[in-house]
Amino acid sequence: TEYANILVEQRGRVGLVTLNRPQALNALNKATMEELVDAVSAMDADPGTGAVVVTGSGKAFAAGADIKEMAGQGYMDMYAADWFRGWEDFTRLRIPTVAAVSGFALGGGCELAMMCDLLIAGDNAKFGQPEINLGVLPGMGGSQRLTRAVGKAKAMDMILTGRFIGAEEAERAGLVSRVVPAENVVEEALKAAEVIAGKSKPVAMAAKEAVNAAFETGLAQGVLFERRLFHSLFSTEDQKEGMAAFTEKREPEFRHR
Ligand code: HXC
Repeated sequence: TEYANILVEQRGRVGLVTLNRPQALNALNKATMEELVDAVSAMDADPGTGAVVVTGSGKAFAAGADIKEMAGQGYMDMYAADWFRGWEDFTRLRIPTVAAVSGFALGGGCELAMMCDLLIAGDNAKFGQPEINLGVLPGMGGSQRLTRAVGKAKAMDMILTGRFIGAEEAERAGLVSRVVPAENVVEEALKAAEVIAGKSKPVAMAAKEAVNAAFETGLAQGVLFERRLFHSLFSTEDQKEGMAAFTEKREPEFRHR
């Protein structure tokens, strides 16, 4: 498929999607959202792809939703189009996703990074939810995902003042998985994705589903959901292979990868 706003590459079992509107700091317009969802949905369905890396280009991961595209819209336009609804499709993907963040991840850019399962940041990363300065508030889940990630105190600070935080503060707050030197961020994200892609894909999908259930359910329900998933994996060849490989002191050769 030919895309205008993203670049798509396959690196072994890992899909790499690069946001490619550096002249607009990768502002996430509707076309970019649709292309990203389309590309990653194809990887989700492809048994040859076990994980996805999403990254930016130039000095930004993404500097937000496209302000120029939104500026002239009225309430009825936003409501009728259900603006940003398409991002839900990204969050419903079952394949593990890794964000590789270098430079600015602001507004919708920070929100997209938070939709990914792992968030690997370069030491030059800047995270922020500056929508308050535009007379709006986060619209792609930021008030919810940021609060769950870092707690109320820091989420209120970022969302009410619009202050940016650096990679170190973001790691301390629990927003990011790992901080690496900026020049290595894509390489480190690809390595992490390759490790994930070496596992059984359906088992990795189940593990992702179990962690995500922690955001939607109470503890007892979540623990029960986990246990039932755990039981179900004993019907798979990959459980047999994984446990046999351990006993035989060798690397597992998962079939479903
Ligand atoms: C559209 C954007 C953009 C954006 C940058 N650009 N961010 N265009 N939407 N979100 C464009 C600029 O207009 C400019 O285009 C070009 O990218 C380069 O940006 P500069 O501002 O010249 O770069 P710099 O001076 O280095 O400043 C970087 C920056 C600044 C601090 C990141 O660009 C900035 O503050 N951007 C907006 C950040 C923001 O508010 N994001 C939240 C968006 S709202 P030209 O054509 O002039 O060269 C959002 C959630 C929406 O994401 C939810 C509510 C509906």
